[in-house]
Amino acid sequence: MRIAVLHGPNLNLLGQREPEVYGRETLAGIDARLYALAGELGVQLETFQANGEGALIDRIHESAGRVQGFLINAGAYTHTSVALLDALVGVGRPFVEVHLSNIHGREEFRRRSLLAPRAAGIVMGFGADSYLLGLRGLALRLRASARAAAPSEEV
Ligand code: DQA
Repeated sequence: MRIAVLHGPNLNLLGQREPEVYGRETLAGIDARLYALAGELGVQLETFQANGEGALIDRIHESAGRVQGFLINAGAYTHTSVALLDALVGVGRPFVEVHLSNIHGREEFRRRSLLAPRAAGIVMGFGADSYLLGLRGLALRLRASARAAAPSEEV
């Protein structure tokens, strides 16, 4: 099983960006923890960060053939990007939405996620741990789907 982790705009600044909201952990630190957890779960992982909407969409298209699902923190595009939603839905792979902060406890414009209605699940408000919880949830979901499709095989 292979999962792609996508980090959206400004998440490359984690560690220095509004630490009171997003914590002090860097993106490299989060990725390292995700790879360690993926190893425990027996999942293959790839991670990617981009500030541009088009780059994220291209990566979704390009990686969909080799991954079974996506773990995505779309950053501010969460609240604005129909194109990102269409890409995720278009490639037909389940995705889990994650946020470091609780977007419902912040400004009004952050409370709406365009991705949420089509997400397999959402984890928010646990800082970097949101990603780890999201990865666990997505791996469980993918394993359950694979088992349902091929009950006799080891997945
Ligand atoms: C975020 C929340 C978004 O509103 C914001 O634009 C981000 C980060 C989060 O992880 O809490 O860039 O997705």
